Amino acid sequence: MGQTYPSTALHQPERRVTNMQSPVETQRLSATNDGIRRAADLLARGELVAFPTETVYGLGADARNDRTVARIYEAKGRPSFNPLIVHVPDIETAKRYVQWDKQAELVAQFWPGPLTLVLPLKSGSDISKLVTAGLDTLAIRVPENPTAQALLRQFAGPVAAPSANPSGQISPTTADHVLNGLSGRIAAVVDAGPCRAGLESTILGLANTPTLLRPGPVTRSDLAECLGMEITAQPPQSAISAPGQLASHYAPNAAVRLNATTWRPDETRLGFGSVDCDLNLSPSGNLTEAAANLFAYLHKLDASGAEKIAVSPIPETGLGRAINDRLTRAAAPRP
Ligand code: TXA
Ligand code: MG
Repeated sequence: MGQTYPSTALHQPERRVTNMQSPVETQRLSATNDGIRRAADLLARGELVAFPTETVYGLGADARNDRTVARIYEAKGRPSFNPLIVHVPDIETAKRYVQWDKQAELVAQFWPGPLTLVLPLKSGSDISKLVTAGLDTLAIRVPENPTAQALLRQFAGPVAAPSANPSGQISPTTADHVLNGLSGRIAAVVDAGPCRAGLESTILGLANTPTLLRPGPVTRSDLAECLGMEITAQPPQSAISAPGQLASHYAPNAAVRLNATTWRPDETRLGFGSVDCDLNLSPSGNLTEAAANLFAYLHKLDASGAEKIAVSPIPETGLGRAINDRLTRAAAPRP
C-alpha cells in the first residue's frame, strides 16, 4: 500500500455537481466508509460510479449487468467493439473469471498493482458479453489503491471500468477531471485525491505468447525478468480493437508537437528536465514524477486555452516508453 492522499480529500464534504444539459446529478462521494458504502450501493443498483485507482480514475459498473455496462459505452461515447477491464480485489477472485496458468501465477506478483492481464475467459462465467465485446479473453486487474480495494470488497462483485473520460480524451487523474468530462452522465465519483502513478495500467496478453498490449507503470523489462523471457510488444498496426491502441487517443484540445528542443513563439511549453518552459513534467528529469503529472498537466493546459503544446523529449527507457506511447497518441492526427 504505502499511499498517502491529501488529508483534505478524505475529509471533503460531499458536494453535488449538476450538468445543466442533463437531468442526472453526479454526486461527489468522500473516500470514507460511508462514501464507499454509498458507492457500492449505487453499483449494486446498476448505476455508474467513478472511483480512483493507482493509475487513473475508472468508470465502474457491475460487470455482470448488461444494461449498466451498456451505459458505460454510452456515457463515454465509446465505440462498442472495445472491451473493458474487470477489477477484482484479489488473485483468488480473479481465478473465478479467467483460466489461470503458470505465467499468470508468476506475473501476479505485481498484484495488487498497475498491471492488467488478458487471459482466456472461464466458461460459464457471468461476465456480461458487452465487457469482453464478444472476445473469448478477459482483461482483469487487481488494483492496489486502498479506496479501490475498499470499494471492490464492499461491492463484492466484478467491476468493469474503463478510464473515466469521454472516449478519445485525456484520462482523469483527479475527481475534478472526471466531473469535467462526465458530470451529468454518471451517478457518482468517489474522490480520494490524485492518482499515484497517473498512467493507465500495463496490459500483458497471456492468452498466447506473452505480449505487451499497452506499456505502463510495470515495464516490459520488469515483466521479462519475472517471466524469464523476452516480451513481444504488439506492433502498432495490429488489428486489435483497443481504444488505447488507436492512433489518436488521450488527446487534449490543443495540437501537440513532440520532441521539441526549441520552442516556437505561439507554443505553450511542456518541459522535462532542466529546461526553461511554462510547465515542467519533472524538473529533475524523474520519469515516475513525469508520468504522475502527464495527464494532469495536459488537462491544465487544455483548461488554460492553449492551442499549441510543444513537449520536450522524454527518454525512451523504462516508464519513459509508456509516457511516449501516450504522448504519441495525444499528438496523432485526429480522426
Ligand atoms: O489503468 C487502467 O487500466 C484503467 C483503470 C481504470 O483500471 N483502465 C483503463 O481502461 O485504462 P481502458 O478501457 O481505458 O483501457 C482498457 C484497454 C483498452 O485498450 C481495451 O481495448 C483493452 O484494455 N482490452 C480490454 N479487454 C481486452 C481483451 N480481452 N484483449 C485485448 N485488449 C483488451
Ligand atoms: Mg482509456
